[in-house]
Amino acid sequence: MKNPGWAGETGEFDLTESEVRGAGYVGPQPTEGWEHGGVNAVPYVHADSDPDAPLFQGPYRKRLDTIMSRYPNKRAALLPVLNLAHEIRGYLSQESMDAVAHELEEAPAAVRGVATFYTMYNRRPVGRHLVQVCTNVACNLCGGHEVFEAFLQHTGTEPGQISEDGEFTVMEVECLGACGFPTAVQVNGRYFENVDVAGVPDLLARLKRHGVDPVDGAAEGATSTSTSNGEGTKSKSKSKSTGGEG
Ligand code: FES
Repeated sequence: MKNPGWAGETGEFDLTESEVRGAGYVGPQPTEGWEHGGVNAVPYVHADSDPDAPLFQGPYRKRLDTIMSRYPNKRAALLPVLNLAHEIRGYLSQESMDAVAHELEEAPAAVRGVATFYTMYNRRPVGRHLVQVCTNVACNLCGGHEVFEAFLQHTGTEPGQISEDGEFTVMEVECLGACGFPTAVQVNGRYFENVDVAGVPDLLARLKRHGVDPVDGAAEGATSTSTSNGEGTKSKSKSKSTGGEG
């Protein structure tokens, strides 16, 4: 994709999305058991993230270099590089923040100051599926808190804990920007909308079996919006759901 302007005055870049972000970021949307949303948030949590993975090696070194090439100086790449470290390990440890500081030739305290400002960065390891339940006004009026409690109950966890099987961490979050489709739940960056208490066990079972990707053959009659082909392509078929388009 052409992304003129992304790097300000430094010119145009002709990079594919997969070159910038890596492949496999966003799979097709789930199509059963709840109303799926049309929103593709930027997913920084992968089910296969590894808390002990080496940072910035192999393909990740290449991605780091690609990210850096898009910015006029190293400091400007701070957030994308933190995102990359977060994606690799699923959270930002002190060591990860120091590694980012090393790569960007920044003071470790400066990197920590930024990393700890944003609540979207996990500061502890999380389960394979990070379930973020919105309990802000619109969702709460429609049972968001009950949905949150149901996720905790069915995963046997307290907020922020990893379930015994390592599959889930449930968190309460503020508005996910999908207020028209309460209760909104974000799982590893994928939005699930109109989630209710009754749908929670099914959603958890489905995530365990298939992750956030759809079941094979389940796309019939559904809307899917995918950027997984690395080109940001959106494809749609007829929808039987009332799921939003973001
Ligand atoms: S209040 Fe829940 S998404 Fe906005």
